[in-house]
Amino acid sequence: MSDYVIETRGLTKTYGEQNSVSNLSIHVRKGRIYGLLGRNGAGKTTTMRMLLGLTAPSSGDVKIFGKPLRGNEKNILPRIGSLIESPGFYPNLTGTENLRIFADLRGLKSPKYIKGALEVVNLPYRDKKLFSQYSLGMKQRLAIALAVMHNPELLILDEPINGLDPIGIAEVRGFIRELCDATGKTILISSHILSEISLLADDIGIIDHGVLLEEESLKELEAKNGKYFRFTVSNAALAANLLQSKLGIQNVQVDSANELTVRDLRLDTGAAVRLFVDAGLSVSDAHLYEDTLEDYFKQVTGGEGIA
Ligand SMILES: Nc1ncnc2c1ncn2[C@@H]1O[C@H](COP(=O)(O)OP(=O)(O)OP(=O)(O)O)[C@@H](O)[C@H]1O
Ligand SMILES: [Mg+2]
Repeated sequence: MSDYVIETRGLTKTYGEQNSVSNLSIHVRKGRIYGLLGRNGAGKTTTMRMLLGLTAPSSGDVKIFGKPLRGNEKNILPRIGSLIESPGFYPNLTGTENLRIFADLRGLKSPKYIKGALEVVNLPYRDKKLFSQYSLGMKQRLAIALAVMHNPELLILDEPINGLDPIGIAEVRGFIRELCDATGKTILISSHILSEISLLADDIGIIDHGVLLEEESLKELEAKNGKYFRFTVSNAALAANLLQSKLGIQNVQVDSANELTVRDLRLDTGAAVRLFVDAGLSVSDAHLYEDTLEDYFKQVTGGEGIA
């Protein structure tokens, strides 16, 4: 048996001529937050819908809790909490009353389920405010409360921070982290905001045009985002030559007549500058740079970045 809470193999959804999700194989590990990152139309929602049995895959397999979803829906789905579309709350009822309706449907008799769920998302229990009077942030919290109310082991949240202001985003991020750390839940979230995913997720899958481009831990991803040195000198070709021959430095790239990039972190900039000056070169700039995750995303998606 694998350790994955969610594992897909070759998951594909075709609408007409178009593959919305194409041969997707993702691996979500237990007790971790997995961020599915992709721009609008990348296939995030379609993927999640297939994981929840809401959309039938055109081909490929979904395994959840180590078992195929197909044929085991009755066992698997109650162990998942999800937020995919807005849940259709009644505008003329309060948050607590709305949750009570869903609790009754799910056979959750004790008020502790509702109380607990509201506590997780920092909404007051038995507040008089009607759902129609809720701000967007409160509506989003109530939807998350509904997803966690039956204490599921796995949460699948489609863009849970969509439409929230920065404070709301930080709060939602806080309680999602808390749900994972304090109660060991496994959480799959999607987002089109790279900075959000990088602040929250332990593992990241980058999806573009329905295809999974990368899947790795945030740590691996950050480690790949290389540091590099850039020099501006009077003769870049000569400087590159000196670095290689005298200091044994590798990964030296001449960018223009005067600029070079070095991706060998053994380089001591002081020693390099001394070497250049001794050889009669003038040095007008020497800097250490670091790629951002944004740069990385541009690199893997082949161009456009993501907010
Ligand atoms: N029911 C459907 N019929 C036809 N095409 C669909 C259907 N659902 C999704 N698609 C198409 O599949 C592609 C992926 O859509 P999806 O909603 O999964 O993307 P997404 O990553 O969730 O985007 P967003 O960030 O905008 O929510 C899009 O091109 C979309 O138009
Ligand atoms: Mg979507």
